[in-house]
Amino acid sequence: MVFDTERLVVRELTMGDTDFVIDILNDPDFIRNVVDRGVRTKEDAENYLLEGPLKSYRDHGYGLFAVELKPGQKIKQGQIETDNKVADKPIGLCGLIKRDFLAAPDIGFAFLPDFRGQGYAKEAAMGTLRLARDELHIPQVMAITSKENVDSMTLLIKLGMKMSGTVTYPGSGEELNLFIKDL
Ligand SMILES: CC(C)(COP(=O)(O)OP(=O)(O)OC[C@H]1O[C@@H](n2cnc3c(N)ncnc32)[C@H](O)[C@@H]1OP(=O)(O)O)[C@@H](O)C(=O)NCCC(=O)NCCS
Repeated sequence: MVFDTERLVVRELTMGDTDFVIDILNDPDFIRNVVDRGVRTKEDAENYLLEGPLKSYRDHGYGLFAVELKPGQKIKQGQIETDNKVADKPIGLCGLIKRDFLAAPDIGFAFLPDFRGQGYAKEAAMGTLRLARDELHIPQVMAITSKENVDSMTLLIKLGMKMSGTVTYPGSGEELNLFIKDL
């Protein structure tokens, strides 16, 4: 476990998370707002885990983590609330990413559709900022979002991040909004 919050456990991803990785990376909102990583098969997901999050944990001591619900949390699907029976299956990703083109690590998050709009992303992101400041002693974090990603920008502003111009994403050439927060 990396940290926990009132309702969530945040832990490192493992090679056992391939089904979840396929689900989250192929969520249509993820593909539209973030990127299509082309991860479709178990083998693709294993490569993604090895070259992405697991490599980042080794190289930097942080990366994108898995977010799980603590047992007993209610799950809201539409108007219906049920008890959480899917303990140990992640509901989202949250963490820090070191990118060559940004001066500070950036905070990233993505949740499966059933687990949005319930404050879980904010709870995980606030825990991530605490981790960055108190354990990793990172002085500043950044965030990048596509200009259309209102949900993400709303969350970043709630986290106290300040919009600070734009940055061009190498490769795609897309101009992204840049947010910064001093910790
Ligand atoms: C971006 C993303 C993570 C935001 O998730 P989210 O669920 O909207 O964010 P939150 O966790 O802050 O939930 C916000 C809403 O839950 C509501 N909510 C319900 N119960 C709540 C609770 N107990 N505590 C806090 N908020 C709660 C809040 O009212 C809030 O709505 P508001 O915007 O009207 O204030 C999500 O849209 C997503 O995964 N998108 C796809 C991937 C993506 O774009 N990632 C970002 C890349 S930069």
